Amino acid sequence: MASKTTPSSVTSWCATDGGALAPPGVRVERIAVVAGGVRLTWSDGHEGRFEGIWLRDNCLCEGCRHPTTNQRVRDVVSLPERPVPMRIGPSPDGGLRVTWSDPEGSHPSRYPAAWLRAHCPCDACRAARRPRLRLWDASLPVPDVPYLALGDPGGERAFLEHLRDLGFVRLRDVPDERGMVARVAERFGHVRTTNYGRVFDVETVPDADHLAYTGVALALHTDNPYRSPAPGIQLLHCLESDLDGGDTLLADGFRAAYALRDEQPEAFEVLARVPVAFRYRAKTVDLRHHRPLIELDPEGAVAAVYFNDRSMAPLDAARADVVPFYAAYRAFARRLTAPEAVLSFRLEPGDLLVFDNQRVLHGRTALSGKGRRLLQGCYADRDAFESRLRRLVAGLGR
Ligand code: OGA
Ligand code: ZN
Ligand code: ZN
Repeated sequence: MASKTTPSSVTSWCATDGGALAPPGVRVERIAVVAGGVRLTWSDGHEGRFEGIWLRDNCLCEGCRHPTTNQRVRDVVSLPERPVPMRIGPSPDGGLRVTWSDPEGSHPSRYPAAWLRAHCPCDACRAARRPRLRLWDASLPVPDVPYLALGDPGGERAFLEHLRDLGFVRLRDVPDERGMVARVAERFGHVRTTNYGRVFDVETVPDADHLAYTGVALALHTDNPYRSPAPGIQLLHCLESDLDGGDTLLADGFRAAYALRDEQPEAFEVLARVPVAFRYRAKTVDLRHHRPLIELDPEGAVAAVYFNDRSMAPLDAARADVVPFYAAYRAFARRLTAPEAVLSFRLEPGDLLVFDNQRVLHGRTALSGKGRRLLQGCYADRDAFESRLRRLVAGLGR
């Protein structure tokens, strides 16, 4: 089902800065006052138009921004409806200087060149600020990072960039101790405790209350779509692997979603619109959440994929949507599970798989034979991983 039209990479909403920061040394060369704002021409020929209200709201002075926290201290209602610049000119660093005639008097603002350029609102700069994600299929070599490499900024950055760009990464040679999975998550953020505990053991137990704790194969899925928010990052650490089977399966939900959009746009539309009820009920919980299988960001890019057949409750959709939904759901599932889409490998002791649970589907083949297979898992949020990557890119420490 490989598609000719599906791109090999796509951009996503501003999860992290995708570059397009100011080229070094760039200066504002020409300033033209236009209705409601200014048009700037930079020394590299680039042009961008800034609205007056945006510039006034983003004044960086200490009266507008708290000097140590850098948080805005002036509220939006107190801004003039149409901020009026009294004077506009270049600043010594190659940026922009504006004196506003606020109702309370004149207000000087300075906008550094690099800052202005990093916020240029033109379509090209806005697109370039979005990170590029790489879409993959079964032919992708598993991205590996040695556990010890997390101790240096280059290794840690590679780990986080794989997680952002591909949606997963495998750490190797992780000490085979219980609790390591949470220690890895806590290098970046906080473990999200759920009804499965802070850390959960994935192994076959009698009277299991969950399919994962049996020897049954687990079809490709994302975890816990019945939770709000659904877990963002999932970690699975292999401690023992003596049984037959239990191969790990991964598929790129974003790739399947974009292929569907390109080849069956009406199916994509249905899956991005019709909410599905997910439900998990056990002795102590009754968790439910309704969401479309494909979630879009404000620019129409795929932001998340939720896919979990075993926890889907009966569809509660308008009658006219029921048959189109099933056709679209089956088309999506066929793409996700096509042999050329599914990456398969075996987790061995010392391997710790980290993946974006709102993009990458995971599963395993059935278990058989004598011996023990033990994974420890936990969940964390995406934001802390993204925050850490931004700090590394900026050359900042912990
Ligand atoms: C899980 C799960 C996969 C496995 O626990 O969420 O999908 O390999 N486990 O056992
Ligand atoms: Zn100000
Ligand atoms: Zn799972």
